[in-house]
Amino acid sequence: MIEAVEENNIDEGLENPIARILGIESSCDETAAAVVENGRVILSSAVASQEDLHAQYGGIFPEVASRQHILSIYPIVDQALKEAHLKLADLDGIAVTRGPGLPGSLVVGINMAKGLAIGSGLPLLGINHLEGHLYSAWLGEEGKKKKKTPKFPLLALIVSGGHTELILMKDHLVYERLGGTLDDAAGEAFDKVARLLELGYPGGPGIQKTAEGGNPEAFDFPRSWLDDSYNFSFSGIKTAVLRTVQQLEKQKSKLPVADLAASFQAAVVEVLIRKTLLAAEEYQTKDILIAGGVSANHALREQISSQKKYRVHIPPLSLCTDNAAMIAGVGCFRYFTGQRDGLEMDAAPNWSISEL
Ligand code: KG4
Ligand code: ZN
Repeated sequence: MIEAVEENNIDEGLENPIARILGIESSCDETAAAVVENGRVILSSAVASQEDLHAQYGGIFPEVASRQHILSIYPIVDQALKEAHLKLADLDGIAVTRGPGLPGSLVVGINMAKGLAIGSGLPLLGINHLEGHLYSAWLGEEGKKKKKTPKFPLLALIVSGGHTELILMKDHLVYERLGGTLDDAAGEAFDKVARLLELGYPGGPGIQKTAEGGNPEAFDFPRSWLDDSYNFSFSGIKTAVLRTVQQLEKQKSKLPVADLAASFQAAVVEVLIRKTLLAAEEYQTKDILIAGGVSANHALREQISSQKKYRVHIPPLSLCTDNAAMIAGVGCFRYFTGQRDGLEMDAAPNWSISEL
């Protein structure tokens, strides 16, 4: 059972005073800026993706990423402010991703945020990127408050290109990390298998599309249960797909790409869902939250939503992958708790959610 958590007044704070926060995100290969009101309402959200740039290499080159962030950061912040019809003087704070992420990419966003904070006198707030993914589930469309707000305690699964984390969220901003990947992240496995099957970068959308025409039972790829612990391992399945492809190529068979993609996707989704449900059962939560780039996956969304025992919260597709609205969203919640960071704030490339 979950221990009682001291009540905080964040929800009340969000009902009354207005906090409008500019969020800046540059932890990986998206340069993004957004303005969010009270952690719930997106006033603007601008994203410059580097996908096309990195697609030619089949993965991210950190130096290429940070130089592209330098080119995009000012126009993107300018766009977010213009689309929100607000000036810096109308805002209450500047939230920026401090980590986890690529050091050279993080510092571009952090330095932009510091410059804006110095120029405007607004407070600076350093935000954890994974916490941002969680809070994307609180965001609603402009002008509307989200109808189905997640309730605590809730079981959260973050599945992205860099992370696979199971987290018990006991209250706003209160986390217990239950487990995570021991090797590849779920999104990383999608990207690596897509590369092998020549389905483009990033791999998730390509695998999903190709899997639509395939049989998910064609290949029985291994599911890594790790004794039903809350840890994950996806390197075994990646190797199993590679071996199968090598075998088929040796036999000069035409690669059944759709069946391979469908069977791989089915195995990953099955592991993600089973472990999430096991944890929700053990910690007796009524709500499940799934966030991060892989939560855009249709099969995952459909299968978790098809059970009726838990209320499931998954952000809309535009908020599953990296964006700055989620950073501004957390910024609002943290602004109400009084968080303020100094100009000495550094990037935190390996910042775990359990340190929050
Ligand atoms: O959250 P995100 O944008 O960046 C990180 O913080 O890592 O996640 C990117 C990951 C990539 O690995 C990408 O292949 C995966 O999310 N992804 C998907 C889908 N869309 C994006 N994976 C499976 N199915 C999708 N539809
Ligand atoms: Zn992310």
